[in-house]
Amino acid sequence: MAEGASRARRLEGRTALITGAGGGIGRGIARCLAEEGASLALADIALEGAERTRMEVEALGAKAAVLRLDVTEATDCEAAVRRTREEMGGLDILVNNAGVIGGPDFKLGLPLADITEADWDATYQVNVKGVFLLCRAALPAMQPGKWGRIINISSRAGRDGREAIPHYSASKAAVIIFTQALAREAARDGITVNAVCPGLIWSPMWEQLAALYQAKITRLDGMTPRQVFDHFVSQTPLGLAQTPEDVGRAVAFLASEDARTITGQALLVDSGAVMH
Ligand SMILES: NC(=O)c1ccc[n+]([C@@H]2O[C@H](COP(=O)([O-])OP(=O)(O)OC[C@H]3O[C@@H](n4cnc5c(N)ncnc54)[C@H](O)[C@@H]3O)[C@@H](O)[C@H]2O)c1
Repeated sequence: MAEGASRARRLEGRTALITGAGGGIGRGIARCLAEEGASLALADIALEGAERTRMEVEALGAKAAVLRLDVTEATDCEAAVRRTREEMGGLDILVNNAGVIGGPDFKLGLPLADITEADWDATYQVNVKGVFLLCRAALPAMQPGKWGRIINISSRAGRDGREAIPHYSASKAAVIIFTQALAREAARDGITVNAVCPGLIWSPMWEQLAALYQAKITRLDGMTPRQVFDHFVSQTPLGLAQTPEDVGRAVAFLASEDARTITGQALLVDSGAVMH
């Protein structure tokens, strides 16, 4: 049986806007929401990956459209919400997934002095301001129907500050506290706001990160980027890397009626690495 073929279609009739939909995790989230019956607006700053996601979810039978969006631009965020409503017939679920780990010349913060102001600013612009801008744009679209779901992709690093990526850890912690604050306000309109905190997913982001770790930590000498990644995975209780679909299924659950009384939470999907 194909992966997901037997799953409930809990999101039939719902429309979701997913940012970073052309990236590794964004595609996994899109596939899981499509399998559960949602229509999808697939937004990304880079269209090529988002187009590939569109083809994959259409093959699963989902209605989908691709939108170009820079989450750091308020006008782009407002236009994405407007186009989703016009082209897809509504907006029920927002998944803020777009994220970065620094600027174009990012090196790991080992020592901290290697984190530049450009890394700090680029990370906060996308990971924090982008989430704020899209939530602000999307809420008025959800409020009249007294139903909505906002799911922000944070990180294990936002629950347990990681050396070498302090700027990223801080940005993802900010996402969790923003999620809690907005959850209280949005609750009166029947809208839940939750975060999902992935652990280790092999993706273009991790490929870049693994090479940087290898250059800075001598015990990782001689390993390929994938071996560096596997080394970190082996240090978690379950010893399993997460897949984009592991994250996607957590998002689908939070988007469904099964999670109707869950709000303001930050769900770790990390093989038990963080337990507080
Ligand atoms: N990969 C991991 O191990 C991991 C772990 C924890 C959390 N995360 C988080 O999961 C999310 C997805 O990560 P990923 O691993 O799929 O990374 P990725 O680099 O594969 O995907 C990120 C996507 O975001 C898009 N993006 C970047 N800046 C944007 C902007 N300004 N506007 C719109 N889109 C933009 C990129 O084009 C890309 O398609 C991120 O928020 C990341 O921080 C990843």
